[in-house]
Amino acid sequence: MDKILVEGGVPLNGHVKISGSKNAVLPALAATLLTSGKNDIRNIPNVRDVHTMIALLKELGASADSFHEGRLILDTSRVNNSEAPYELVSTMRASCMVMGPLLARLGRAKVSLPGGCAIGARPVDLHLKGFAALGANIQLQEGYICASAKKLKGARIYFDTVTVTGTMNLMMAAVLAEGETILENSAREPEVIFLAEILNLAGAKIKGAGEHNIVIDGTSSLRPLECAIFPDRIEAGTYMIASAMTKGEVEVSCCIPKHFEALSLKLREAGAEIEERENSVFVRGSYPIQPVDIKTQVYPGFATDFQAQFIALMTLAAGSSTINETVFENRFMHAAELKRMGADIAIQGHSAIVRGVASLSGAPVMATDLRASASLILAGLAAKGITQISRVYHIDRGYEKMESKLSRIGARIKRVK
Ligand code: UD1
Repeated sequence: MDKILVEGGVPLNGHVKISGSKNAVLPALAATLLTSGKNDIRNIPNVRDVHTMIALLKELGASADSFHEGRLILDTSRVNNSEAPYELVSTMRASCMVMGPLLARLGRAKVSLPGGCAIGARPVDLHLKGFAALGANIQLQEGYICASAKKLKGARIYFDTVTVTGTMNLMMAAVLAEGETILENSAREPEVIFLAEILNLAGAKIKGAGEHNIVIDGTSSLRPLECAIFPDRIEAGTYMIASAMTKGEVEVSCCIPKHFEALSLKLREAGAEIEERENSVFVRGSYPIQPVDIKTQVYPGFATDFQAQFIALMTLAAGSSTINETVFENRFMHAAELKRMGADIAIQGHSAIVRGVASLSGAPVMATDLRASASLILAGLAAKGITQISRVYHIDRGYEKMESKLSRIGARIKRVK
């Protein structure tokens, strides 16, 4: 299995270009199932989750030309299989987003229950409650969710908890339902707005995406999708934190600064200089790093997907900080690994108390999930000596060419087999 070796202590310097958003492309790919024809999607990041989703769509009957320079033509005219198998869903939870489109298009969906994952139980009960409200019959059989409906009917649906993929799954189901659907207490993430925009371009009637209530007027068919995926805000923020941690001077380009304002504010509080430009952001890191408290929240609050990387930054702060995780119940697996590098972190329920130390030292560590692996690489960049990160397949799920992007801005990083 591959490992990543990082030799720390070099300030990052230069330009890093951000790829298309993983969390925006996955629902866009799932949404192609609502159409019958050739969908044209550009600026797709070459990451493992995208390949998993393409494999799943092919399993369902879609055919795809080879994925070339971020562009994919996906023909969905012969989609007829409604089963998303365990082997694919268990490697990527976001696969459950095919459920809404399959129900809407074929009137049936059989999708493996995603089960637990490293960052918590992450149920899909709210997705299922929503499908039931639209008139679907839902049964659990041998680890699979079996849903069927002759024709989905619009309904008023209230999400007890704000759920990003739940909002998108229901939005996709409702676009081809009969009548009006209102999704109350919806997620307001940029990925939700983007999905609504590309569906509207294909003929859907969705209003209010980005607000708490989304109103969808069902329509009978959609044209194939044509879109370019917007830049990955989590990837951009990860490089911003990397610059702040290494006393770097990095311009993060091809990104949308308003998508990560909460992070920019917190990095400024920590002492970094942040200059927002039109499609880029410049980050200059300086020590001492100030301790900053964080509470993760739904958008536009501080994203849970930045929590692990921000903890890595706080391990080197001149004082104590409290990081409160409110979105997922078990998202501190990286703390134990960071402690192996000399960090001082105590977990108390949903909070991590991080007491900054003067320096971290390189160590063998293990990645436990996607953002946790990014936090270990960041810690390695700032540590003394060599950090060896194993289980790097987690990184490959969501970061395109991370080692080569970091190398180009001066990091001493390489992958070994
Ligand atoms: C998405 C993102 C992920 C991000 C997360 C929170 C994708 C592919 N993934 O994940 O990167 O970390 O949003 O911003 O876009 N919940 C329920 N029942 C449900 C659904 C969710 O209780 O049916 C709970 C979850 O356990 C969690 C909270 O709601 O505590 C938010 O989860 P959710 O927004 O659904 O996360 P994902 O959409 O899976």
